[in-house]
Amino acid sequence: MNKVNVVLGSFYGDEGKGKIIDYLSQTADYSVRCSGGNNAGHSIEIEGKKFAFHLIPSGILNQNTIAVIGNGVVVDPKVLIEEIKNIEANGYNVENFRISDKAHVIFPYHVQMDKLQEELRREDKIGTTARGIGPVYCDKYERCGIRMGDLVNNNFEKKLRNNIENKNKIFEIYGYEKIEADKVVEEYNEYAKVLKKYVVDTIVLLHKALEDNKKILCEGAQATLLDIDFGNYPYVTSSNPTIGGVCTGTGIGAKYIGEVYGVLKAYSSRVGEGPYITEQNNEIGDTIRELGHEYGTTTKRPRRCGWLDLVALKYAAMVNGLTGLAVNHVDTIGKLDKIKLCVGYKKDGKITMDFSTDVNYLEDYEPVYEEFEGNFGDISNCKTREDLPENAKKYLNRIEEIVKVPIKFIGTGAGREAMIIS
Ligand code: IMO
Ligand code: MG
Repeated sequence: MNKVNVVLGSFYGDEGKGKIIDYLSQTADYSVRCSGGNNAGHSIEIEGKKFAFHLIPSGILNQNTIAVIGNGVVVDPKVLIEEIKNIEANGYNVENFRISDKAHVIFPYHVQMDKLQEELRREDKIGTTARGIGPVYCDKYERCGIRMGDLVNNNFEKKLRNNIENKNKIFEIYGYEKIEADKVVEEYNEYAKVLKKYVVDTIVLLHKALEDNKKILCEGAQATLLDIDFGNYPYVTSSNPTIGGVCTGTGIGAKYIGEVYGVLKAYSSRVGEGPYITEQNNEIGDTIRELGHEYGTTTKRPRRCGWLDLVALKYAAMVNGLTGLAVNHVDTIGKLDKIKLCVGYKKDGKITMDFSTDVNYLEDYEPVYEEFEGNFGDISNCKTREDLPENAKKYLNRIEEIVKVPIKFIGTGAGREAMIIS
């Protein structure tokens, strides 16, 4: 049976999923986004040119690949249109792009509500990307959402005006600016005209593709520990970026899922608030941040940085049923003299490999580290795992040994070609 391959984030996002996706989509007929919205940011470097993707599957850069935004994604049309224009301005064609008629649309009141909700959380802020992601998913489940199909078929004005009236009452209470309905209707009518040609029933599209033996790649955004169910709730995003979200976000059933690759960095990072047991809020973290250019693609925020946590990685492997790992930034971590790897959590002298996203649980534990020699040197020309220096091999072997999932991809530098595939 024709199988769908999947790429997912293993930690808190920003693992370099774009690099693996870019490689795999070179041979994919379809490249599909399943969940999240423009809170995501994948950057890809091709021939020295850096592309930042927030919504459109990066597979669009492979001009034979059909890039699909699935029903589980939430779409800010303004951002989407800017992205289309930017890709075209760089000489790429966007004809092969499709959006699900069932994907929910982000409106200005979602963005404003995101900001208001953060304010109301007071000292317990989540540190959202302020892109309206939480509020649009709330509306989806509340059933007052407006979908791409409604938008492009001019079937949204009544619902939109009703929504704006309701939201404005809330904005008024908190002294936030009211949303002008006429203006939004007019603006979104313009977006609808531009986007109409891309909107289809992607469930039908993808199942025809499966029948025709086409290769489908599902590209995850966000990551396991940001999952609304499996992450560090409430410091999470409002969707399921784990494997289940691939099925519900595309209409592709579980029996079609093939390889599930979990992407990670040879160290770790996190944006926003929430517990992070291997965080190095010190000189080491600062060094990693500079070496790895750990500043947000979406919000430009400096990322919190630390050592790789294998307890968390094991959890990600378990929850997603990972069949392979992709380890990025091996070159970056190899610039340090000494590297630490978290191989367990310790409390009262007892060591466990059981991960929990319970905020209090994590606070009680301290990480147990193994130390490795760094100084890998320039590894960007290594073509096989054999070519890697001994220190790098030891580090990677230990990851595999503990997590019990084979490493299939090794990132050795920033460029498209700097990757070992095994
Ligand atoms: P990619 O696809 C890293 C984080 C935010 C915040 C929390 C909730 O680039 O890996 P939201 O705006 O989603 O309500 O914010 O989730 N977050 C991400 N962090 N990478 C991402 O995506 C993220 N998407 C959301 O920083 O802590
Ligand atoms: Mg990101």
